[in-house]
This record gives sequence, C-alpha cells and structure tokens, in this order.
Amino acid sequence: MIGQAQLIFWIGMKETLLFPISIAPMMEWTDRHYRFLMRLFTKNTILYTEMVTADAIIRGNRDKLLGKNRDNPVVLQLGGNDPQKIFQASKISLDYGYDALNLNVGCPSDRVSDGSFGACLMNDPNRVVDLMIAMREGGNIPVSVKHRIGINGKETYEDLCHFVETISVKANVSHFIVHARIAILGGLSPAENRSIPPLRYEDVYRLKEEFPHLRIEINGGIRDLQQAKEFLTSGIDAVMIGRAAYENPLLFANADDMFHEKDSSENIDWNVISDSIEKYLSDHIANDGKVHHVLRHCMGFFHGVNGGKKFRRFLSETMNREPKNSKLFTQALQFIQQ
Ligand SMILES: Cc1cc2nc3c(=O)[nH]c(=O)nc-3n(C[C@H](O)[C@H](O)[C@H](O)COP(=O)(O)O)c2cc1C
Repeated sequence: MIGQAQLIFWIGMKETLLFPISIAPMMEWTDRHYRFLMRLFTKNTILYTEMVTADAIIRGNRDKLLGKNRDNPVVLQLGGNDPQKIFQASKISLDYGYDALNLNVGCPSDRVSDGSFGACLMNDPNRVVDLMIAMREGGNIPVSVKHRIGINGKETYEDLCHFVETISVKANVSHFIVHARIAILGGLSPAENRSIPPLRYEDVYRLKEEFPHLRIEINGGIRDLQQAKEFLTSGIDAVMIGRAAYENPLLFANADDMFHEKDSSENIDWNVISDSIEKYLSDHIANDGKVHHVLRHCMGFFHGVNGGKKFRRFLSETMNREPKNSKLFTQALQFIQQ
C-alpha cells in the first residue's frame, strides 16, 4: 500500500505509526480511560490524547496531564504558540512514553484563539515552522501538524498549499492531518465549526497529488471504516475519525483485521472485555477514582443495536449512584441479556 518514495521519506517513523487509521484528539473525550477502552477493540489504531497546552505541562501537574496506561501507539497533542515552551513541554513529555507529538492548528475556540494558538496559527506558517522545529528538537520523536484547510480570510486552496509547503520545506515535517473544512474564527462556536463550514475533501486529494511524498491524513465527517477504506484506496495515506469513534466505539472492533487486508473479523469476546473493564475499574477505585470517569465513555457501546438503550439507561442510572462499584459494567451486560 505504501510507495517506495514514501517509505524512504518516512524512514524515521516507527512502523506502528504507519497504521492508516487513527482516532482524533478530542477534549474531555479521548482521555486515558477512553483510550484504555478503545484498546480492548483495536491494538493498531493510532490514538491521540486530548490537546494539552505547553503552559499546562510546564506549570501544572505533569503526571495528571501526561500519565498514561500502556495504550501505545499514542500521540500526544500539544497546543501553544511559543517555540521555547513547546520545546520544554516536548522534552518533559519524553518521560511518559508517547510515540509521537502533534501540534494543534485546528482548534477554533475563542479561548484558544485569544491565546494565539490553534487554528489562528494558519495565519502564520512561519511561526508553525518554529514550533515544529522546537517540538522535534525537544521530543526527538516523530512530529505532525493537525490543521484545517483554511480559516476565514485564508481559505483558498492556494493558501492551504502555501501553508503545507512552508512547513514541510522549512521544518521538514512530512505528516499533515487535514480537517477538510475551514474554521470560521470569531463567528462560530467550536461545535458549529465542526459542522457548518462545508467539507472540501477535494482539496485534500489535490494536496496529496501536489505533495505525493508527504503523509496526508484526512479528517472530518468520516462515519465508518468502509468510508475510510475508500479514501485509502483513492490514494490518501491515512484517515482520522473523531466523533463517530466516540459515538460508536465498536466500529473499531475489526479495524485491525480490515486494514491488514485480512477478511476475518473476530467476534468480540464480551467475557474478556468485561473482565478487563472490571479489573481496570478496581484499580481506578483503589486510586481514589470513581467509576463514571471510565464508564461515561461506554455510553456509545451497542450504538444502534438491540439492547443499546437498556444498556445506556442502566449505566446512567447507576454510575453516579454507585461510584465505587467495579462490577457495574458486567452488571450492565447482564441486564441487557435478561
Ligand atoms: C468534543 C470534541 C473535542 C475536540 N477536541 C479537539 C482537540 O483537543 N484537538 C483537536 O485537534 N481537535 C479536537 N476536536 C476536533 C476533532 O479532532 C476532529 O478534527 C473533528 O471532530 C472532525 O472530525 P470528525 O468529523 O471525525 O469528528 C474535537 C472534537 C470534538 C467533537
């Protein structure tokens, strides 16, 4: 699937990071508990953390912000606009065992724009060059940029090309994750910015044609793995899925088989899964955690499937009431089988 020229270009990248499917960074959603749960279904899908700002890493509780389970391959997404701080944060993150680092150049929120990072950095490709160089020097692991196809005022395909070319040439970055819609800064909320600006997949295809040596990963509005496969067979290098992965985690149950070109799709062994979750919950409770921190991410299990509503109702009625009950997931499964 991978051409020789690309292989040479990506020679520095770990093989695990070449799996063509990833789950997008999502604040409040892709925390360590969600990633633990996703690893029960897929070993190879590349997972992303929520965005963590460089300032938070430098000044905050590092173990809390960066501590992770053994859920590799995982990419840490950083936010920031000061190369010194990105360097420092990347260096600090080294101790935590991430496989790669990613810079957020796609977040449109006012808070993030006021801090002059996120999507507004598309206005300043040379700043992104400095940030990417700092990230690579600090972390010494593969780096990538996640960005939009544009922002208001800089929304043409030519603007997008200029952005990608500047960063790939001046910072020698070879992996670009492109959310295929522009962000409208100062006008729309983050949620609206994920649905109102139209998707322009054609811009991402053109980008891949124009820069065949770069790893171009497409993101935005992709609902399932079949659709992902179509992008891959049409020449896009990788596909990142966000909301659909959260709303319906079981989508990923046959990702490993599907993208290793095998036909077999293993059935999910719910006994193994519920044992693992119970053990994880016991450990979490022993560390003073509450079960809803973990189980809130299970609400999308059985999405659109018989028993799904019953399962969600059981969990939402019990997980706050019984914060120390490590058997709740198992009990929810038993409840839907009755
Ligand atoms: C709740 C939520 C939080 C998000 N947080 C981040 C974030 O921290 N960093 C980021 O780059 N994108 C973030 N995004 C955007 C997603 O990564 C993704 O680009 C977007 O949802 C489009 O992909 P999708 O249509 O597959 O969901 C977030 C999206 C959602 C729904």
